[in-house]
Amino acid sequence: MENNKNIDWKNLPFGYYPTDYNVRCYYRDGKWGALEVTSSEYISIHMAATALHYGQEAFEGMKAYRGKDGKVRLFRWEENAKRMRKSAEGIMMAEVPDELFYEAITRAVKMNADYIPPFGTGAALYLRPLLFGSGPQVGVKPAEEYMFMVFVTPVGPYFKEGFKPVPIELVRDYDRAAPQGTGHIKVGGNYAASMRPADRAHQEGFASILFLDSKERKYIDEAGPANFFGIKNKKYITPQSSSILPSITNMSLEQIAMDIGLTVERRPVAVDELDTFEEAGACGTAAIISPIGRIFDRSTGKEYGYGPIAGPFSTEMYIHLRAIQEGEIEDKHNWTSVVEGV
Ligand SMILES: Cc1ncc(COP(=O)(O)O)c(C=O)c1O
Repeated sequence: MENNKNIDWKNLPFGYYPTDYNVRCYYRDGKWGALEVTSSEYISIHMAATALHYGQEAFEGMKAYRGKDGKVRLFRWEENAKRMRKSAEGIMMAEVPDELFYEAITRAVKMNADYIPPFGTGAALYLRPLLFGSGPQVGVKPAEEYMFMVFVTPVGPYFKEGFKPVPIELVRDYDRAAPQGTGHIKVGGNYAASMRPADRAHQEGFASILFLDSKERKYIDEAGPANFFGIKNKKYITPQSSSILPSITNMSLEQIAMDIGLTVERRPVAVDELDTFEEAGACGTAAIISPIGRIFDRSTGKEYGYGPIAGPFSTEMYIHLRAIQEGEIEDKHNWTSVVEGV
């Protein structure tokens, strides 16, 4: 594909890069209006909007990939649409119907076709659907008006120096979400709560953080903005917890793990079990898999090591999932959908 914008795809960071258009839609008087296309990067909302005061806000993160065959594919978009509906339900926002979600993401992709990175660069077009309470309230109650929008931005390859394990810091003095709170939905407050320990970990030389369950501090919870998994004895093991976001990547890796002959266990994973894994990783849309080289328990000083190179199963699963997303191998679970006309 031609690069009309002279973008250095391979060196793009995972950050905001302006594109030409975004799409928006308003919920008023109990119904969604028509999608609007705009080239403005700004939104105008009421100063008493519930999103600004009470955190009535949810988002999604997904990617569109240009395949070897030139086609552009979305990966399991229905799962993102469903998760956004769950997020809306969890904090009493108007739900975005799947048809509207699909129309918005595909329009945003098509209108910004020049920003879809070519196959082979490792880069992709990141899609950010966003839903928030735009109507005013002063008391703590849900807004009566909502805004749904989708913007896209090209993001570079996650591993610029190859698929290399990263160090992670286990934190016991911060919690991301409560067991009966909002950890299982993708609302902004969860991310605000994770910033301080994440920033400290970065300053201390770690790539990310590992939270424990906030009730007993005994079980592995979320791995920063990703799910955790460990591998041992040909088993793919990932935590079960009410405060973890159901990762679409993790769900897919569970299937791929089975496809390549591993058994899958989703159950509480005690911290002590970290010592027994042969491989460990964090998974999510941004990186697919971030192999974990070591986990440092900041409070106890204990360290769990998994070696300086990614393990064989993590590597195989990573290659496999990427190949499905980029249309290189058969998509036997029907996970991808081609965006026609780009
Ligand atoms: C807290 C959290 N957990 C897990 C994930 C991974 O989810 P997915 O695989 O759907 O991207 C994300 C990011 O997307 C996240 O923000």
